[in-house]
Amino acid sequence: MALIPMRVMLDHAAENGYGVGAFNVNNMEQIQSIMTAAKETNSPVIVQASRGARSYSDDAYLRHLMLAAAELNPNIPIAMHQDHGNSPETCFSAIDQGFTSVMMDGSLQEDGKTPSTYEQNVDVTKKVVEKAHALGVTVEAEIGCLGGIEDGHGAGLTGDEALAHLTDPDEAERFADETKCDALAVAIGTSHGAYKFTKKPGGDVLKMDLIEEIHRRLPNTHLVMHGSSSVPEELVAIINKYGGEMPETYGVPVEAIQRGIQHGVRKINVDTDNRLAITGAIRKVFMESPDKFDPRAYLKPARAAMVEVVKARMIAFGQAGQADKVPNVTLEEMAKRY
Ligand code: G3H
Ligand code: 13P
Ligand code: ZN
Repeated sequence: MALIPMRVMLDHAAENGYGVGAFNVNNMEQIQSIMTAAKETNSPVIVQASRGARSYSDDAYLRHLMLAAAELNPNIPIAMHQDHGNSPETCFSAIDQGFTSVMMDGSLQEDGKTPSTYEQNVDVTKKVVEKAHALGVTVEAEIGCLGGIEDGHGAGLTGDEALAHLTDPDEAERFADETKCDALAVAIGTSHGAYKFTKKPGGDVLKMDLIEEIHRRLPNTHLVMHGSSSVPEELVAIINKYGGEMPETYGVPVEAIQRGIQHGVRKINVDTDNRLAITGAIRKVFMESPDKFDPRAYLKPARAAMVEVVKARMIAFGQAGQADKVPNVTLEEMAKRY
């Protein structure tokens, strides 16, 4: 099976009540980890690359690595997704590179920082939908802005300002109708990176009831949760045991994500947890075996640590066991369905 449109996977997930983890990649080892986890759990997968990942790995390397992943795993449905496209041009260049799905994140302006207006968001998203759907490529959009201060993807909103940018269900309904996007990322209190919450999040900061309300209004739109790393205490502890200095922090509990999956969440973005697993494993080798200098000595355990995280998420989200049940639909066939 070659790369398939993400929409096919999300439709199957909706029909069968599960969610699909979307894992970020920057290099060969991360792609290998995801594919090993997918093979071992018989899971369909979404592999995603941010703009930063595309420039770090170079589109050509990334393209060939993904082709290798598909060649080596003919029974695993794979969607290749542009994470947080900041402009139609970014999305179009991803499509040219063979991505089968793109996110047009029009919730922010092209700088990836400044919140945009509703009209600006509709305008850029519609442009992308028009071209992508003609080619069978899936489009994820975003309404509302994530909080957080850690990276280029987020307006850096905190406190009341962040609350003001949570997704408005009325707007979400109008937006999905006007843009015809396939999947919609919503802002419910999560943020990117490791520092999401200062204590175990309750409903006052992680608004799962908002997801339920949006799903009631938009039962046929696949919802996407960004910033969904759980930041497991044990992974932070490994990093700190081997010389790291990460303060106490809390992520999105897996049970909250599972509640979301019962209410329309079909794509769950996870990057940070894998970064933590990789870094902990590498630190351990560096501390315990300072004589080693062959990169394989630390990249192999790093890869193995990421496999465990991805497998655990695949099982928790319910995608495990579904790979051979997802229909094989080509981009051409998908284009005719729109
Ligand atoms: O959207 C956030 C992802 O974790 C990717 O982050 O821009 O550092 O590659 P990045
Ligand atoms: P985390 O930083 O919580 O892993 O979120 C990743 C993400 O949303 C990528 O788009
Ligand atoms: Zn994100």
